[in-house]
Amino acid sequence: MPEWIKVCESKEMNNSQIIDFDFNDKKILLTKIHGKVYAIDRICTHAYADLSTGFMNEEEETITCPLHMSSFNMKDGIPQNLPAEVPLKTYKTKIEDNIVYILLE
Ligand code: FES
Repeated sequence: MPEWIKVCESKEMNNSQIIDFDFNDKKILLTKIHGKVYAIDRICTHAYADLSTGFMNEEEETITCPLHMSSFNMKDGIPQNLPAEVPLKTYKTKIEDNIVYILLE
């Protein structure tokens, strides 16, 4: 059953800032783009690279893998260039009373 999990206070997040969040076996990355929070799996789908050490591009709304430079759209997880071909899993988020939540199973 999906459940809203508290991540942090929204004032702790600046635009383009990357926040790591681990929950059970999930490794998730959150970022704020133009004031909205997005959550996505943190491990690249091409090989094992942690995207929290990658490069955010707020204008393009992407995160770029530090290992082979595939970029992923933060909203839908779709890779924008090779070598990655498989989308990253995305998660719903919400902000209530200045608290950031993520919907997880
Ligand atoms: S590990 Fe991310 S593009 Fe290769």
